[in-house]
Amino acid sequence: MRSIYIETYGCQMNLADTELLFGHLRRHGYWRTDDPALADVILVNTCAIREHAEERVLGRLGHLVRHKARRPDVQLGVAGCMAQHLRDTLAAQLPFVDFVVGPDAYRRLPEILERAGDGFVDVRLDRDETYADIVPERAAGVRAWVTIMRGCDKFCTFCVVPYVRGRERSLPATAIIEQVQQLADAGYREVVYLGQTVNAYHDGAVDFAELLRRTNGIDGIARIRFTSPHPSDMSERVIDAMATCDKVCPQLHLPVQSGSDRILAAMERGYTVTQYVGLVERLRRAVPGLALSTDIIVGFPGEDDADFRATCELMHAVGYDSAFMFKYSARAGTKAGRWPETVSEEEKGRRLQAIIDIQEQQSAVCNRALIGSRAEVLVEGPARRQAGWMAGKTPHFKTAVFPADHVEAGTQVCVRITGSTAHTLVGCLE
Ligand code: SAH
Ligand code: SF4
Ligand code: F3S
Repeated sequence: MRSIYIETYGCQMNLADTELLFGHLRRHGYWRTDDPALADVILVNTCAIREHAEERVLGRLGHLVRHKARRPDVQLGVAGCMAQHLRDTLAAQLPFVDFVVGPDAYRRLPEILERAGDGFVDVRLDRDETYADIVPERAAGVRAWVTIMRGCDKFCTFCVVPYVRGRERSLPATAIIEQVQQLADAGYREVVYLGQTVNAYHDGAVDFAELLRRTNGIDGIARIRFTSPHPSDMSERVIDAMATCDKVCPQLHLPVQSGSDRILAAMERGYTVTQYVGLVERLRRAVPGLALSTDIIVGFPGEDDADFRATCELMHAVGYDSAFMFKYSARAGTKAGRWPETVSEEEKGRRLQAIIDIQEQQSAVCNRALIGSRAEVLVEGPARRQAGWMAGKTPHFKTAVFPADHVEAGTQVCVRITGSTAHTLVGCLE
């Protein structure tokens, strides 16, 4: 047996891929270690979404190579989106890297490791690869992340994902339902379906709405979530499934990116502000109390003061529970990556801080409104900060902490909310 250490960057899909890699490699004689100093193979599973993500990985590789200096037999590899993105240059740029594997080459990793050395590169994209037959080695806990589709066909002008993850493809519905049944049997209580445009899922006659309905019927699973849905694929059928399936949580991450029609058009997002707001209204009518979060980019090429103000106004109008906010980062290979940047780094920073301030206030308002209400909390374990407190998530995906000696993880308890911050709810057991 050889040992492997994997360090993961990027989104939940990358974390799920790392679990997939551990599962696959275990069946080929590799055991997992959490200490790079003990590993025969060191793999960095990378992200390419923004320049900053790539810089962090380069820095980290420069650090991890020290293990090779001490133990020359160690194999050091780069996997994931940045491996795919920089496929033509990475091996030459980092001569100490033994192998480079793209997101569709993981099935071949055991053979690659036999041959690795001198920067062996396998970055073939494969429009049929779903890894549906490979059982991931999952982190223990109450929540399991399940990839149900891979790739993306949307080609938003700023985004590298379609180039590094390839074409959209869905796993067979039967394989997904079987996997979730096994997760339920293994004690997981919550499943989170993953895909870059998760609601574009389709397997023959089974669309995303139908998949939610089938999942809702699985005994043992108490909660169903998914991320990230694309607004353009948010059909009435999906909204109806959210409204009628009791296990589908009243929570949605619905990336908007900008509040300006001009910028949305340049991003080729496929919707206008009016259409997005109309969708939010339909969702809130169908799912009362729906918690909404979003992604926003500031400083996209051409974004002027008026466009930026429109984004701030949209945030006020929707009132998101939380948001991930980013400075635009030009990505090689994308359409917008060829356009001249018009917003300086300083101005991007100023705009980012301004929307962070708006969101902090809004998050605090959303959470304060819950004081006095009751919530079913799915217990995950002891609270991180206070001894004698337990923590879990509400159906709205908010962290709630409450004093209790011990409650078994995976139990649902009723908590009365007595206080809040922008990021946490505080309560007591009912
Ligand atoms: N598939 C999801 C987004 C995945 S990427 C969707 O379409 O909603 C996660 C987030 O990163 C995006 O929503 C976007 O806000 C941000 N992002 C993507 N490319 C970016 C870039 N070039 N610069 C800055 N932020 C970017
Ligand atoms: Fe990127 Fe757009 Fe696809 Fe999301 S939908 S992954 S932002 S191209
Ligand atoms: Fe990054 Fe790839 Fe996810 S680019 S955000 S790790 S799909």
